[in-house]
Amino acid sequence: MDVVHLRRGGTSVVVSLTDARLPRVLHWGHDLGDVAPEHLADLERATRPTIGDSAVTYPQPVPLLPQLAEGWLGAPGLAGSRDGRAWAPLFVVVGRTLVDDDDRDAAVLVVDAHDAASELGLALELRLEPSGLLRTRATLRNDGDPYRVDRLELALPVPDRATELVDLSGRWSLERRPQRHPFPLGRWERESRGGKPGLDAPTVLLAGEDGLGWRSGDVWGVHLGWSGNQVLAAERTPAGSRLLRGGEIVLPDELVLARGDEVVTPWLYGAWGAGLDELSGRFHAFVRARGTHPRSPRPVLVNTWEAVYFSLDLDRLLALAERAAAVGAERFVVDDGWFAGRTDDTSSLGDWLVDVERLPQGLEPLAERVHALGMELGLWFEPEMVSLDSDLAREHPGWVFDAGHGPGLPSRHQHVLDLGHEEAYTLVRDRVSALVERLGVDYLKWDHNRYLTDAGHGPAGTPGVRRQTLQVYRMLDELRARHPGLEVESCSSGGGRADLGILERTDRVWDSDCNDPHDRVDVQRWTTLLLPPELQGAHVGAPRAHTTQRVAPLETRAATALWGHLGLELDLTLLDDDELADLRRWVEAHKALRPLLHSGVTVHADTQPEVRLEGVVAHDGSEAVFQYVMLDRPTVWPPARVRLPGLDPERIYRVEELVVTATVPAGRRPPWLDDGVTLPGRVLAEHGLEAPSLDPDRSVLLRVRGV
Ligand code: DGJ
Repeated sequence: MDVVHLRRGGTSVVVSLTDARLPRVLHWGHDLGDVAPEHLADLERATRPTIGDSAVTYPQPVPLLPQLAEGWLGAPGLAGSRDGRAWAPLFVVVGRTLVDDDDRDAAVLVVDAHDAASELGLALELRLEPSGLLRTRATLRNDGDPYRVDRLELALPVPDRATELVDLSGRWSLERRPQRHPFPLGRWERESRGGKPGLDAPTVLLAGEDGLGWRSGDVWGVHLGWSGNQVLAAERTPAGSRLLRGGEIVLPDELVLARGDEVVTPWLYGAWGAGLDELSGRFHAFVRARGTHPRSPRPVLVNTWEAVYFSLDLDRLLALAERAAAVGAERFVVDDGWFAGRTDDTSSLGDWLVDVERLPQGLEPLAERVHALGMELGLWFEPEMVSLDSDLAREHPGWVFDAGHGPGLPSRHQHVLDLGHEEAYTLVRDRVSALVERLGVDYLKWDHNRYLTDAGHGPAGTPGVRRQTLQVYRMLDELRARHPGLEVESCSSGGGRADLGILERTDRVWDSDCNDPHDRVDVQRWTTLLLPPELQGAHVGAPRAHTTQRVAPLETRAATALWGHLGLELDLTLLDDDELADLRRWVEAHKALRPLLHSGVTVHADTQPEVRLEGVVAHDGSEAVFQYVMLDRPTVWPPARVRLPGLDPERIYRVEELVVTATVPAGRRPPWLDDGVTLPGRVLAEHGLEAPSLDPDRSVLLRVRGV
């Protein structure tokens, strides 16, 4: 087995194991079909490059772990040393295992390697999942005196026609903004050094054919399943290599392996597709197949944050809960502000004791009422944070992270609690756990609002980001084990921690603090690169968005939130009976659609810049829902036809407007919208339908059913 061919989910991965060298991926992408062993050997020979000016600069296929010692002049996959020795390892493969029995399971290749001179062992694992998602990780073992690891980063090659890079950036309330540019020579690197992927997280770093879009252009992307410091990089050398890489960023001395110790890297996930929809479909299928993926219908929730902020008391919460139940909510989430002293954001993080001044009877009466109304109860925590104005910080100042200059800059008046102190970890875990137990909390909104800019572990101030990340994972695992059925939302000032590491132990992410549909549609669109809609919290906010002051009608706000894990985040007590009835209709519409929305294939059309077209198509192609959104006034009028992607080209479909509370006004409606049309999927995708003439920030929903 010198050349291994793995095939799953429309994907081929061909790996060379010749010459006892670390595995080199020769092909990752389109399914190559059955390739006989002798042809695989020839594929390997056909991929061997001409040797140019020297053996070091020739474009050799680069192993999963690029090594300086075999001529890789870019960043080494492993950087480290044993007091200045063993810094340029050269691994020799000593064993391989391939499990490739049943294509309903992953094909798994594990390669064991050793470098006797460096006294290091290495196992590389490569899994091709049934969806065609590829993932890889390394285990490094130290067989000698303590070995300090500075970098352990894996790399997947992309073909030379991947000439364009796309990644995401963003900021608070405007997460996941794409940026594009040609794949440059050198290293394009996106680092997250704030102890989490961040609001500007690249999320998936993509390289693909020029002009790649949602529906066309071969494209490859990587994501790191890790919630701490990390880097994703695209690296291209003058010798012809193009790599997508990723790994944890290790701070000085954070990772020192004693003799016999080993470390396992986070998974580096890779997906490819002919267009971004196919690529993201591979992530979605993988995520949905996980044992921890939520299986029950996603409960429609009401969240109190933008409804009351810190102005809460029992009466106000009870009034909201009654209204929540009346509009059909299934979960009631008490956000920030419920604990002692927390009347604004300047104090009390870390204490986690119910505020008996504003809630003299505790939260029990609310918990009882919420449950009696048939809803689940959610409660907000920020377990990794501490306010200096808190009993916790006053009693244990040494538990606040400090890299040698005191607690550092406050951010939102708060600091980071060092969970590397076992007593701090235990105290917070047990306080959260006690409240979950006492109140019957069904759901935690787990927030994280400050970057780890000065995460020094006391008393010496040594770097503590890596340990903090592992402690957070541990706390989530322990809480979920103690409280079976407890669901958790990963929130981080919005979408600052949305990665497959945190999602192994949480049930949704909060995409963004922005509930304005104008911006939100793109936040959701690009979050969907990685996560299916049911893992994305999506809320209907107030008519005037709190983060942008833009005003949008209920129809646009609700039609945009409809796709994800639906929530309502507005003061329901301000709504009159008609408005409540309208909201209830949207909740009902969502409930009717959610089996499709939360299981189907997400699709996006490549449209003119002012327009978005989002959709979900059932896996069997039998039905679909689309949202056509006009974000801005197009310079060309009328806008281009609406072409519906992802339908079965051979099938005949009925397309009708999905009216929940309001319809496209007369004069704005193309004739077909009045009675619907019946057309083949191919016609709908290629020829399309005349676009409704919508004003900015208006949208229309289309219901599509096979006839
Ligand atoms: C930031 C979150 O993103 C918001 O949704 C809200 O929970 C606030 N924190 C509360 O402080």
